[in-house]
Amino acid sequence: MPVVKSREEKINLRAGNLSLIHEPVGYRKNSTGRMDVSPLEIKFRKPCVQDGAGIWNLVRETEVLDLNSAYCYLMLGKYFPDTCLVAEYEQKIAGFVSAFLPPQNPEVVFVWQVAVAGSMRKKGLGTKLLKELLKRKACEKVRFLETTVTLSNVASQSLFCRLARNTRSHLEVTVCFSANLFPTKSNHETEFLFRIGPLQRELIK
Ligand SMILES: CC(C)(COP(=O)(O)OP(=O)(O)OC[C@H]1O[C@@H](n2cnc3c(N)ncnc32)[C@H](O)[C@@H]1OP(=O)(O)O)[C@@H](O)C(=O)NCCC(=O)NCCS
Repeated sequence: MPVVKSREEKINLRAGNLSLIHEPVGYRKNSTGRMDVSPLEIKFRKPCVQDGAGIWNLVRETEVLDLNSAYCYLMLGKYFPDTCLVAEYEQKIAGFVSAFLPPQNPEVVFVWQVAVAGSMRKKGLGTKLLKELLKRKACEKVRFLETTVTLSNVASQSLFCRLARNTRSHLEVTVCFSANLFPTKSNHETEFLFRIGPLQRELIK
């Protein structure tokens, strides 16, 4: 089922109805239910320049994210640590989120990339990274989270749907960057804008 049927179409859904958006394939919860990561075992912190290489490796290993230059990840650690996070598990970077506050709209945090190490997925770490981001001082005025998602990235759709559901927020989906804006040779899919909010901060735990 497509998320958006046409460029202009806007879908506004109550978080409770998000199953209308897609049917995740190939993922089953085990019979005992979700085993989320214990926050005690994971350290969430701001990235620093020394993390740049590790973040680059993590993003490369996802094989689905656009891999930016190593310089870019060094820069995020140096100039955007307040809105980026790493999750450290057993002294290794197990998760990363990069985001920024668009200068023209401080009520919005734009999430650029989220990555969780393969061995740590489906344990709630991706969701926790987003919630830790929203709890940051830099995000105290944020009411909406925006990000872009492709149709083929079901894990990413599920992650942001879960956040919308957890925070009882609306999820609005529109086209952000259509495929024809990307270089032909890059074969890039359309990026859909997911806008989640207004966020109920008391539900961000
Ligand atoms: C997307 C990603 C960050 C999710 O991280 P995660 O730690 O597995 O996420 P969570 O455990 O918090 O799960 C969040 C939701 O996604 C669902 N989910 C996770 N992986 C999934 C998959 N492969 N297929 C379908 N659903 C999936 C979970 O079931 C959960 O939804 P639910 O509460 O309805 O069950 C991770 O899969 C990843 O790093 N992927 C590669 C990079 C990427 O695509 N990043 C996102 C775009 S920037």
